Amino acid sequence: MKNISCVILAAGQGTRMKSEIPKVLFDICGKTMIEHLLETVKELDFNKIYIVVGHKADLVKQKILESSVGKKLKDKLVFVLQGKQLGSGHAVKVVEKHVSKSEKYLLVLSADVPLISKETLNKLITQHFSNSVECTVLSVILENPYGYGRIVRDISKKFVAIVEEVDATEQQKLIKEINAGIYVFSLPSLWQALKQIKPDNKKGEYYLTDTIKFFSSKQTVLCENINEVKGVNTKKDLVEVIEVVRKKILENLMLSGVIIVLPQTVYIDCNTKIEPDTKILQGCVITNSEIGKSCTIGPHSFISDSKIGNHTEIVYSYINFAEIGDKCSIGPFSRIRPQTKICDEVKIGNFVEVKKSKISSGVKINHLSYIGDAIIEENVNVGAGTITCNYDGIKKHKTYVGKNVFIGSNVNLVAPIKIGNNVVIGAGSTVTKDVPENTLVIARAQEVYKYNHRIIKKLFGN
Ligand code: UD1
Ligand code: CA
Repeated sequence: MKNISCVILAAGQGTRMKSEIPKVLFDICGKTMIEHLLETVKELDFNKIYIVVGHKADLVKQKILESSVGKKLKDKLVFVLQGKQLGSGHAVKVVEKHVSKSEKYLLVLSADVPLISKETLNKLITQHFSNSVECTVLSVILENPYGYGRIVRDISKKFVAIVEEVDATEQQKLIKEINAGIYVFSLPSLWQALKQIKPDNKKGEYYLTDTIKFFSSKQTVLCENINEVKGVNTKKDLVEVIEVVRKKILENLMLSGVIIVLPQTVYIDCNTKIEPDTKILQGCVITNSEIGKSCTIGPHSFISDSKIGNHTEIVYSYINFAEIGDKCSIGPFSRIRPQTKICDEVKIGNFVEVKKSKISSGVKINHLSYIGDAIIEENVNVGAGTITCNYDGIKKHKTYVGKNVFIGSNVNLVAPIKIGNNVVIGAGSTVTKDVPENTLVIARAQEVYKYNHRIIKKLFGN
């Protein structure tokens, strides 16, 4: 696009969020609010993207530059500091000295209106160009316009001004057409209009919306989709925006071949990939993960930052920063912790916790175990209640279990320890030394049988 740059207003404190976190850094299904907006802006070819920062400016700038979209746009981004947040009009004014004289148009976006689509922006810009006006405002009709600036028209329906909720008369409050906070301005008209606005309103701010009355040619473009222009001022608004994005993500997954049963109970973020024919049952939360084909996930499982293979089943379980192979069965009630790699055809059953371990193919750990800092080789059977005693109070130690080992129930493996291939460990053993391959170990106290006078007497008399 020729001679058009973009300004994103992101300096506001976001007082109504009642939070320490700057508003534009709140997460919406896996990306910050500002990243969502930048993803859309990236699709349009602007000369420069001016981001006005103020409240916690360094943090906002750092997060943007760290993000993948920020890295892609690096050469176009210009951060402009608004030292004091004196209003949206003032925020645009601080950009003036950075904009070259050859620039003809500015698209102004509010960072707290993150879901605007590329199509709507294109429509707004095209209409501005084709009607050669000084200002084009994106408007929308809302059943409940509370909180937004209202589009004021004269008797001939001509657009004349925008009046903010707090400054509106009772009559104006009835207007349902609102300002979405997205505008195209011609230059230098905008700079001239900005010189004329005054903070003579209830909030005592320089309103960008007050520039409208100084333009002789102006228009509105109506946005049909109200979800795109939802503004985030409170946490209630944020949750509504998250809900719009959540539904969209699930819809896209379903269209790509994933079955999501009871989608109203499922949260999947935008950094997750799932292959077709996988079934997501109710109550699942999945973030920043990759899941293969034909898996069954859920009901009620949490998976984050993990990779799951194909044909694997995960029931009522909690998994983070782990990798799980094909044809595994996890759960119900398993916890797979960071740096765990579970290979193919592994069974991890109820109340089993695995941490920082490699569990090789064909291993079964079916009941009530803790496996930490361990390597378990192929086809090992880990009996119920087996514990790797990996921590001596100061350091963590490693456990190694060779191929085809059979570990009986309720065994303690006191690390550091190495169990050779084909070993059998008797139930109830506490093993503290390395065990050579092909041996049977029983490490428990001998049973003792004694005649018990007192009880025998009580039960059977003399
Ligand atoms: C604004 C509009 C309102 C519109 C609504 C749409 C004004 C005066 N009003 O109201 O007509 O219906 O958006 O969502 O613009 N900002 C700065 N620096 C400042 C003040 C604000 O950068 O000094 C930024 C904010 O970070 C935000 C945007 O400008 O991204 C809008 O400010 P906000 O206070 O949220 O205005 P609203 O009351 O939502
Ligand atoms: Ca706002």
